[in-house]
Amino acid sequence: MRRAIYPGSFDPVTNGHLDIIERACKLFDEVIVAILINPGKEPLFSLDERVEILNEVLNSRFPQVRVDTFGGLLVDYARQRQAHAIVRGIRAISDYEYELQMALMNRRLDPGIETVFMMSAEDYSYLSSRLVKEVFGLGGSVAGLVPELVIDRMKQKFIDRRS
Ligand code: PNS
Repeated sequence: MRRAIYPGSFDPVTNGHLDIIERACKLFDEVIVAILINPGKEPLFSLDERVEILNEVLNSRFPQVRVDTFGGLLVDYARQRQAHAIVRGIRAISDYEYELQMALMNRRLDPGIETVFMMSAEDYSYLSSRLVKEVFGLGGSVAGLVPELVIDRMKQKFIDRRS
């Protein structure tokens, strides 16, 4: 049983994330999409909302994917879940330096857990959760970049914020 952790903030999940998850499913028997509990960051969607959105988007499409949350060190969580690998998507050279630092630090902390980098699909190579929120918040279209459900939830979120 080869198990991988795909960690991130997923605020919100994008089609770029889904592409990485789909390809990770071909390499691993089980993929745990693990949302970081980060009290220092003010997210658009609460942790519970992100868990719910990810479950709705992933459950029917990817039976071998589980959604979970974690706090503390990623390698401790990966060990606890008996995972063999951490999956990260790389969109552009600019991602590489930060990702390399994290991968090397994680290897130092636990040499038993490999980091597997996957290249993002070209169509999503510029895409980030941050840009999605910014563009949507300013009235631009993010159709085709995030699941429909995320668009619905963002609409609701911005309506709630205005009232
Ligand atoms: O989607 P993100 O925000 O780029 O994900 C970053 C994440 C969650 C992978 C990273 O912040 C992380 O692993 N945090 C857990 C704390 C930790 O282990 N820090 C040391 C990493 S070298």
